[in-house]
Amino acid sequence: MVSRTHIGSPYMQFAKLRSGAKYNLATSGIMSYPLRELPVRLEDLEICGTDLYGHAPLLERIARLNGVTPDRVVTAAGTSMANHLALAATLEPGDEALVEQPTYELLTTTLQYLGASVRYFERRMEDDFRVDPAEVERQITPRTRLIVLTNLHNPSGALIDEPTLRAVGEIAKSRNAYVLVDEVYLEALYERRPRPAVHLGDHFLVTSSLTKAFGLSGLRCGWILANPDLTRRMWHINDLYGVNAAHPAELLGVIALDNLDRVTERAKKLLAANRPALEEFLRSRDDIQYVRPEFGTIVFPRLRHGTVEELDRLLRSKYETSVVPGAYFDMPQNFRIGIGGDPLMTREALHRLASAMNELRAS
Ligand SMILES: Cc1ncc(COP(=O)(O)O)c(C=O)c1O
Repeated sequence: MVSRTHIGSPYMQFAKLRSGAKYNLATSGIMSYPLRELPVRLEDLEICGTDLYGHAPLLERIARLNGVTPDRVVTAAGTSMANHLALAATLEPGDEALVEQPTYELLTTTLQYLGASVRYFERRMEDDFRVDPAEVERQITPRTRLIVLTNLHNPSGALIDEPTLRAVGEIAKSRNAYVLVDEVYLEALYERRPRPAVHLGDHFLVTSSLTKAFGLSGLRCGWILANPDLTRRMWHINDLYGVNAAHPAELLGVIALDNLDRVTERAKKLLAANRPALEEFLRSRDDIQYVRPEFGTIVFPRLRHGTVEELDRLLRSKYETSVVPGAYFDMPQNFRIGIGGDPLMTREALHRLASAMNELRAS
């Protein structure tokens, strides 16, 4: 049993306190979108709203974006709160959740906080971090009430295709379990984004936000897509956390969604500049093993020689550069690189990473 009063997330503490650097490859999303580039007029904003179960225009925009009706949408403070509500609405204390491994640690920490027991199924690097439904079948038990996935996968960026999601869905359904798919990185496929997994059946829940693919983390514009029974449950659970959302943020969320094309253009331009730099870096190294993700903002190479701990120490002390050590994903020989930052900074950061790796190899 974990302590509820002393719970915390080592990854989130790292992300908030220690991931920053002049040359930052630790951030997994697109760099911040500036307010001045959104057509916001002061008269469009207001302090207090009237819809206490979600600002109706925001629910409508999110519903339209995802091809569902507004009764299948719950708004939440980022994907983080969306995940919390989705987990809380599908599990009683003592229920079991079957979670991909490696995964985003906040998911398992929140599960523990909620009193769920956590089992894992592996997404193997040797298998391109694919979800193997046969492995899910092997690991599921009669106590499993929820299967948890990230798509794109954090940390590897691997895409789960729809047939695989369907196959996992069938396994869940036959056990009377739900499937939660955190799709916050799927948004980074932009116009090539497949439909959200909630379309695969009422036993699917999807969480997402404008954080990662659009650089709008500060808006905390997150959502859950689920069947209307579950959305009702989540609104009621959310009553325990807050009477209403910050209304100016809801209004800004509507403006951002109405102008998503221009936000998308800037994000795609950034990735188009950074991807070749990443490819060049990956191709130039024979001291890492990696699965090259086709989409998204992250990659998760494995260091062949030396330790990531040493590399991290050297990067920070001499090269003012940060990556995410794979230990935060229980894969200490890997590290995560994010390419959503300023192109000049990202290119220089990758050079510095290469220099540090050279130095490590020579020592
Ligand atoms: C898989 C995953 N889900 C959720 C989040 C948090 O998203 P948000 O900032 O929208 O709360 C992150 C952030 O790193 C993430 O990697």
